[in-house]
Amino acid sequence: MKNSNLFSRRQWLQTLGAGGAALAAGPYRRGFGFDPQTSETTGGFNTPDNQAERMAWWHQARFGMFIHFGLYSVLARHEWAMEMEGIPVLEYMKLAKQFDPHPHAARAWARLAKQAGMKYMVMTTKHHEGFCNFNTSLTPYCAPKQAPGRDLVKEYVEAAREEGLRVGFYYSLMDWHHPDGARCATDEAARQRFVAYTHGLIRDIMSNYGQVDVLWYDVDWPLSAQGWESEKMNRMVFKLQPKIIVNNRNGLLGDFSTPEQHIQAAKKGRAWEACMTMNDSWGYQRADDDWKSPKTIVRNLIQCSQGGGNYLLNIGPKGDGSIPEESVKILTATGEWMKKYGSTIYGSDPCQVNRSVYAGFTRKGNTLYMHVYFWPGNYVAIGGLMTKVKSARYLATGEKIDFQQTDFQLKLTGLPVKASDELATVLALECEGEPVQNTLYVRENRPRDGV
Ligand code: GLC
Repeated sequence: MKNSNLFSRRQWLQTLGAGGAALAAGPYRRGFGFDPQTSETTGGFNTPDNQAERMAWWHQARFGMFIHFGLYSVLARHEWAMEMEGIPVLEYMKLAKQFDPHPHAARAWARLAKQAGMKYMVMTTKHHEGFCNFNTSLTPYCAPKQAPGRDLVKEYVEAAREEGLRVGFYYSLMDWHHPDGARCATDEAARQRFVAYTHGLIRDIMSNYGQVDVLWYDVDWPLSAQGWESEKMNRMVFKLQPKIIVNNRNGLLGDFSTPEQHIQAAKKGRAWEACMTMNDSWGYQRADDDWKSPKTIVRNLIQCSQGGGNYLLNIGPKGDGSIPEESVKILTATGEWMKKYGSTIYGSDPCQVNRSVYAGFTRKGNTLYMHVYFWPGNYVAIGGLMTKVKSARYLATGEKIDFQQTDFQLKLTGLPVKASDELATVLALECEGEPVQNTLYVRENRPRDGV
């Protein structure tokens, strides 16, 4: 190997120096690193102020499907393989000649999403690898001009609509392929070219597929919101798609927050969506066998609903577009549960009650839904429920449940020893007002006399 192919220590230090200088220099460069959560910039134009109206369907929906599909699906080694394995761009590009998904593979994704009780889908139109799944005049590195020979985003949109699902587009600002994708941080001419390219691609996906319901930006490395001209970007998006909602990953606040691989409610009044994988990879990774159980998925969905948030759950189809068998199994089981209990999830209100070691909670008005996922036996109890319960029943059958309530404990008795639903059995409690729990009250005030 010739020495010039190696990254010498001197070059390395120079790079660090240049990076440091640029960091100090300009408002265009993003802060260090590639934290997917991004730093949100506030002030200036964000999104139009009819937010509640635009977001109404999404709050009802609660559950969506994320789809990571691209050249990395062919490679089957995770969507970050290009960077993590340091694959040369020219070598990686060969995958575009092999990528050949089944025609209308997206129909199976949409059918499965519907069956699982999901109400919307968000598909990668371009991931960090830089390959566009849609048609564009701005680059030949796009599905219709490479092996697929067709517009994969169009197929996806048609499939989602056929199943009555809302349509979302994921778009990665970071680009490992485009010649300006990194140097835009330190070279103003490159920045201008790359921002024009980026806005141009976003214009394409906002213009060519009818109504788009969600735009899901991702990783804004290496520029700041100012560098990306994100206000202008959002203005264009809303001009082309007045009803759309956008997330917070182009450096602006957007309409909702995007906790990743964990569930964390945003501040009151702020919409949020937890995006998560079923194993540990977004893009197909053949060897990743770390699958979550259907029970974990259902528990996550309940936890998101409890906090007033949404759950965007990922599938990573294989290169041919087929869905990994484990994902099908998990989503099928989830769908069966949702058929029975979806009414406790869709359009539920944020629920203050949340403390139990074997149950999760959701709420609609004054009705508290107790989702018992570890069925403890012939009674269940809630500590510190401060609201008076009027009646209790099994949600599935309507059958009444006996209960006793004190200041400290609500006890539901006479239950079967075994759970009726393996994933979570749901009990509905009609309360006198909005249910409120205070376990600290129990800790502080429970009489200790007689001890
Ligand atoms: C991160 C990852 C990316 C994935 C995304 C999903 O930003 O870089 O691979 O698509 O999270 O939220």
